[in-house]
Amino acid sequence: MEKKRLVSGIQPSGMIHLGNYFGAMIQYLELQEEYHSFIFIANFHALNTIRDPEIMNQYVTDLVAHYLAIGLDPEKVSLYRQSDLPEVCELSWILSTLTPMGILERCHSYKDKIAKGFSPDHGLFAYPVLMAADILLPKANIVPVGKDQKQHVEVTRDIALKFNNQYGEILTIPEDRINQSTAVVPGIDGQKMSKSYDNCIYPFASEKALKKQVMNIVTDSTPLEEPKDPDKCNVFGIYKLLADQDEIEKMRNQYLAGGYGYGHAKKELLAKILDYFAVARTRYLDLHQNKDYMEEVLQKGVEKVRTVAHKTLTEVRKAVGFY
Ligand code: ADP
Ligand code: TRP
Repeated sequence: MEKKRLVSGIQPSGMIHLGNYFGAMIQYLELQEEYHSFIFIANFHALNTIRDPEIMNQYVTDLVAHYLAIGLDPEKVSLYRQSDLPEVCELSWILSTLTPMGILERCHSYKDKIAKGFSPDHGLFAYPVLMAADILLPKANIVPVGKDQKQHVEVTRDIALKFNNQYGEILTIPEDRINQSTAVVPGIDGQKMSKSYDNCIYPFASEKALKKQVMNIVTDSTPLEEPKDPDKCNVFGIYKLLADQDEIEKMRNQYLAGGYGYGHAKKELLAKILDYFAVARTRYLDLHQNKDYMEEVLQKGVEKVRTVAHKTLTEVRKAVGFY
């Protein structure tokens, strides 16, 4: 039986943080055997925020290095750069002719930006339609993401249903896939970890930078000798993502017993991050010395997705009367 399909992407916007890793990327790893996977670098999307060509190019390369370093296998996964598949723009246009303005006006990501006083470009407004095209072109069954992207997957479903109602059962209706325990990974201040809140831990940063990020985790002022509540502590909240059950219990008991300071917990957390990502961190540095290899991976990846994409686009074009 043919494998079900998985599609997901991340915008190239600098280093990935623990929220990206535990919210979205770890699912790509867990599912790469079971699903026919299409993972891409969402550089068309990133144009909404990154307007420096050098930086754009650098971030794209860096994201490929992250994807490969964490263990995505390019033999199993089609790993590609969105801009190498301009067919998504054609599908996006066709879908936009069936997308009510109201759906897009209700999207949180758009509303949040407006609330912050951004003057919106059409690209920002239309972003969920392009995302729908990303997902529908390879006919995804599932879309692994963090909770903040759930609404965009719902928009995708709405658009696909409208298309199918109008033109026949052509598009596959996808479902989001969210790891409940890591749906919203907390940042160093306890809010959702996000680049825009400047509260991230970047597991591929230099050891020095990583140490600084960990030491900056916000804690309360309970004195060292007193017992502490682990469930109210950001350090423990992040440690839980990486440690095994025994280690988590051990740290929990240390908090409860007293005589264990936040400084101790931060030290253990730093050591844990370095250990958890040790292999990936070495690979990441090696990959940056081997840009030709990464380019080769992207070229092979886009060839694989293009075959599937053309099939969908041929069906779509025929359905709308382009024959
Ligand atoms: P950021 O908010 O830092 O800009 P992105 O929006 O680029 O992150 O997110 C890329 C992927 O990582 C998405 O699938 C998103 O849902 C997931 N993600 C981002 N931050 C978190 C978080 N704090 N917890 C869980 N998932 C997250
Ligand atoms: N909107 C996603 C984000 O900001 C990135 C993205 C673009 C995506 N197209 C996608 C995610 C398709 C999953 C599927 O994180």
